[in-house]
Amino acid sequence: MQPSCKKCCNFVGCKLNKTTMLLEKIEALRGKLNELKADNEEALEALRIKYLSKKGEITALFAEFKDVPPEQKRELGQKLNEIKTLATERINALRESYKGQAKEQNKIDITRPGFPAEVGTRHPLSVVRKQIIDIFTRLGFTLAEGPEVEDDWHVFSALNFAADHPARDMQDTFFIEQNKDDVTRNIVLRSHTSSVQVRTMERRQPPIRIICPGRVYRNEAITARAHCFFHQIEGLYIDKGVTFADLKQVLLHFAQELYGPETQIRLRPSYFPFTEPSAEMDVSCMLCGGEGCGFCKHTGWVEILGCGMVDPAVLEASGIDSTVYSGYAFGLGIERITNLKYMVKDLRMFSENDVRFLDEFRSAH
Ligand code: DAH
Repeated sequence: MQPSCKKCCNFVGCKLNKTTMLLEKIEALRGKLNELKADNEEALEALRIKYLSKKGEITALFAEFKDVPPEQKRELGQKLNEIKTLATERINALRESYKGQAKEQNKIDITRPGFPAEVGTRHPLSVVRKQIIDIFTRLGFTLAEGPEVEDDWHVFSALNFAADHPARDMQDTFFIEQNKDDVTRNIVLRSHTSSVQVRTMERRQPPIRIICPGRVYRNEAITARAHCFFHQIEGLYIDKGVTFADLKQVLLHFAQELYGPETQIRLRPSYFPFTEPSAEMDVSCMLCGGEGCGFCKHTGWVEILGCGMVDPAVLEASGIDSTVYSGYAFGLGIERITNLKYMVKDLRMFSENDVRFLDEFRSAH
């Protein structure tokens, strides 16, 4: 038998030496196990495989155990079991602490600032429509509505359009039902909100003081300057003794409320079948204040609406006595007013719903 050396010469038969080496390995392993680190499930699994699986380091130590002399088996067996328990406990402890950390991370931080809720913006046409409605309701006008699919009577005939008037033509009007022999039986998409004048006069006797906002349709090619639908506001005032001076004063007030107190108006004679006399109204250019610039084509004026005294024939067609009552009417395009206020260059932008465009009106109200 070889002398019992503690660390030895690797003499193959030296069982004692094997034991010493095994003990040293166990102690080295204990040191390593105390240092283990893992902060996720994969790292933990890697550790389990490294130490505890069939090919793991501790299992390998158990294999060496068979060479330990019987009298040392008890002590070494205990140490091996201890180290195995230690490895299992260490890995479990790491798992618990990593789970705890994850929980910690998932906790809601109530001090963190919230995400601002995204709110939409009002459409520019709605903004301007509201501004116009507000101006007229402050003057005592009330709102009136009518259908978009209308009959010929309310869109044309009652408004004094002759049977062969070009506005009835295919190029202007969208027909829902077209009657070749009798145009007065046509059903159309209304081409102006003046139809609501007729509907209101049919139902009510004066005094009538209404504005009618709504969508209108015309059979036009869609370009930057024309669209097949757009929006108008119609105004109508009928009472005893209403004169052109009333119309002029109300429109001046409207223009100054909308574009500022310096704004001037001018009325140019024009023609509409349903008013006599008729006029188109210009306002002093909102860019140059009337001096003349590229925007107003160096005239100092821009056109914004059509107006006039309601033709007696129109009053009579709706059952209002034109010998007792008179009135004025006006009609404006909301897109046009909006373009002049916000310098929108392309009509198509109003209906494309591009949020970058709509977002520019965030501060408008
Ligand atoms: N209906 C006309 C249009 O669509 C606008 C208009 C002009 C309305 C004069 C009126 C008016 O009430 O008096 O072009």
